[in-house]
Amino acid sequence: MKVNNEKSLRSFWPARHSTATGWRRPINKRVATTILFVFFIFLALFIVGCFDTYIFRVFSTPAPKKSEFPCTTGNLTQTCPEDYPSIHIPTNPSTVTCPSYFQWIHEDLRPWKETGITSDMIERARPTAHFRLVIVNGKAYVEKYTQSIQTRDKFTLWGILQLLRWYPGRLPDLELMFDCGDRPVVRSSDFQGPNASPPPLFRYCSDHQSLDIVFPDWSFWGWAEINVRPWKNVLKDIKEGNSRTKWKDRVPYAYWKGNPYVDPTRQDLLKCNVSDQNDWNARLYVQDWEQESKQGFKQSNLQDQCTHRYKIYIEGWAWSVSEKYILACDSMTLYVRPRYYDFYIRGMLPLQHYWPIRDDAKCSSLKFSVEWGNNHTQQAQAIGEAASNFIQEDLKMDYVYDYMYHILNEYAKLLKYKPRIPPGAVELCSESMACAVNGVQGKFMRESMVVYPSDTNPCTMPPPYDPSALAEFLNRKDTSIRQVEMWENEYWQKSK
Ligand SMILES: *[C@@H]1O[C@H](CO)[C@@H](O)[C@H](O)[C@H]1NC(C)=O
Ligand SMILES: *[C@@H]1O[C@H](CO)[C@@H](O)[C@H](O)[C@H]1NC(C)=O
Ligand SMILES: *[C@@H]1O[C@H](CO)[C@@H](O)[C@H](O)[C@H]1NC(C)=O
Repeated sequence: MKVNNEKSLRSFWPARHSTATGWRRPINKRVATTILFVFFIFLALFIVGCFDTYIFRVFSTPAPKKSEFPCTTGNLTQTCPEDYPSIHIPTNPSTVTCPSYFQWIHEDLRPWKETGITSDMIERARPTAHFRLVIVNGKAYVEKYTQSIQTRDKFTLWGILQLLRWYPGRLPDLELMFDCGDRPVVRSSDFQGPNASPPPLFRYCSDHQSLDIVFPDWSFWGWAEINVRPWKNVLKDIKEGNSRTKWKDRVPYAYWKGNPYVDPTRQDLLKCNVSDQNDWNARLYVQDWEQESKQGFKQSNLQDQCTHRYKIYIEGWAWSVSEKYILACDSMTLYVRPRYYDFYIRGMLPLQHYWPIRDDAKCSSLKFSVEWGNNHTQQAQAIGEAASNFIQEDLKMDYVYDYMYHILNEYAKLLKYKPRIPPGAVELCSESMACAVNGVQGKFMRESMVVYPSDTNPCTMPPPYDPSALAEFLNRKDTSIRQVEMWENEYWQKSK
């Protein structure tokens, strides 16, 4: 038995057995080294393993769970639930710097940089405000004052609620007044000197004589009345539409379609339409919204409106929401000299992203621009593409949320008191808003609802312009505009 066992063992470990004689010492050393080596490998694996678990614990939270649209199962409960995450630490912490137009956040808040913002200043913004918004512990409370035009206030508030879902738990406590009207109202000439204390008032556009603080408009979450979908979807549609007609195959004229009755400057533009007497290279059309709505908006699909090489942008009663849709077209935008600005346009430049058009001589300016573009097709096409790229990249929805995040964050830093929930305010949440509407509004809310938190951090704010860099930037802009005006003058002098 024993012998057999030994034999069988020997047959299993012949080498070991045979080396048991003469090679004893070195082999022992070798075994020891091997054991030591294996031990260190295990130790290393153990350390790496622990570290890995540690990294895992520190930097990651469970993958964000997608939440359902609250009203899909006919559950019309209008209470605000507690189950949406109130905090989310991104697994992909990014350090991307925000687009340069974010620098204007510093400029827009500069009037309060020294003094800070007091509760009294905010109260003085109330007379024209449509609502007061208070955020406390990541929740939104609203006090409504007057009805805004259409669904402007509703979709603006919806956007802010989505921001709270995009960056849960990351917005500071704050209180602000919002005016959904068109034109700015806080004149800077009324608030001069060190003790001026202007009222801080948020709205969609401002001008160079006003201190109103600009904020993204409602249409980024949809414009229900004219069937314009949420921006995220429109961007995709327009991109797809652009790929359908190449620039060179587009109609070589300047196109505009809109409502001319909102401001005299638009009626002035209509004088440039092609007629039996004149051809200013412009093809202009009146948008009849009533007719469109009766026909189910078949003629007003934004992605089907990028058919001309040149598209005209002109303000209405104030800035026009149409701006971003026009600039996204891959056509060269003919930008009629504006009075107002919204939050992103100050990052765009004449001759780089659009072609400047005179306000006081629209027809001759348009005629020249189109002829120039048809003579310099490569440059004209490049200007169109640069604008589209800017809109597709720098104005994508992630950056719209980042802009909102940063301006609210910087604004909250200026508050000199701790905001409290006002007695007359109601808590607002996606559920209570979305479940109360149906039709197009409900559809747009469903499309634009944030269903899980962002898995990256907001982009990093660029520092403020230093005064000389800002002056240089503005100077560059003026120089390009004057350059084009000089070319125009030469052209018209020659043709006389
Ligand atoms: C509706 O929602 C409420 C609150 O989220 C929940 O308590 C209730 O069970 C839901 N009812 C149905 C029928 O799903
Ligand atoms: C401009 O001219 C075109 C072509 O004649 C015409 O179809 C269009 O209705 C005109 N637009 C306006 C606003 O009159
Ligand atoms: C376009 O080219 C034509 C022909 O060379 C020239 O006569 C005209 O002045 C040019 N127009 C512009 C605006 O460059």
